[in-house]
Amino acid sequence: LQSPTIDQAKLVQVNKPVFLQRKVTTSQKVLQIAKDLQLLGHQEGGFFKETDRSPLYMENPYSEKNTNSYRQATTTSKDKTISRNYSTLIYYLITSESAIGRLHRNHSRIIHILQKGRGQYVLVYPDGTIKSFIVGFDFANGEVAQWVVPGGVYKASFLLPLEEEPSGDDCLLISEVVVPGFEWDDHRFMESKDELSELVGEEKAEELGWLLG
Ligand code: GUN
Repeated sequence: LQSPTIDQAKLVQVNKPVFLQRKVTTSQKVLQIAKDLQLLGHQEGGFFKETDRSPLYMENPYSEKNTNSYRQATTTSKDKTISRNYSTLIYYLITSESAIGRLHRNHSRIIHILQKGRGQYVLVYPDGTIKSFIVGFDFANGEVAQWVVPGGVYKASFLLPLEEEPSGDDCLLISEVVVPGFEWDDHRFMESKDELSELVGEEKAEELGWLLG
């Protein structure tokens, strides 16, 4: 579960963001971005739009049925149990009023590219390791604008204010590329604090419980 882009990032502590402590009304400017990009509410929190899905199909690498013997037959099939699109691309936006993307994991590694704003990611690895880093453009201070989250690693994200005083103009806009393309079958929300506790221990789970949304 190596990721050079995440190794580049400075690891930071996780503190509950100001946007969860008090309501900061999202500005017209940010609402207009969501409108212009035709974003819709995402079940993780925030807003998204799938902007591209490769028309090519590959075999579903996560299918147990997957064997070389019928590779030839499956690569043009649209049956999602046996095939996947090569890739998908989305915009994802979090705002002052929808400021967290709740903890979930995907089978596939996901390439994230920062477009605007600043935020924090929290990763929980299968062995219980927690890594948190800031996504932003202050590269000299260990912020990153590209980060690849390995498959099978839980991730959550939340908005950070650009200035000391949080503002309705604060937002985090990213692009995400998934290979093979996104399917709900490959996606799983973390369901409970008990589940988190099993991974990271009771104390950490108590501290990070709000990442479950
Ligand atoms: N549909 C619902 N959620 C998602 C997502 O995260 N990515 C893509 N591509 N489609 C989705």
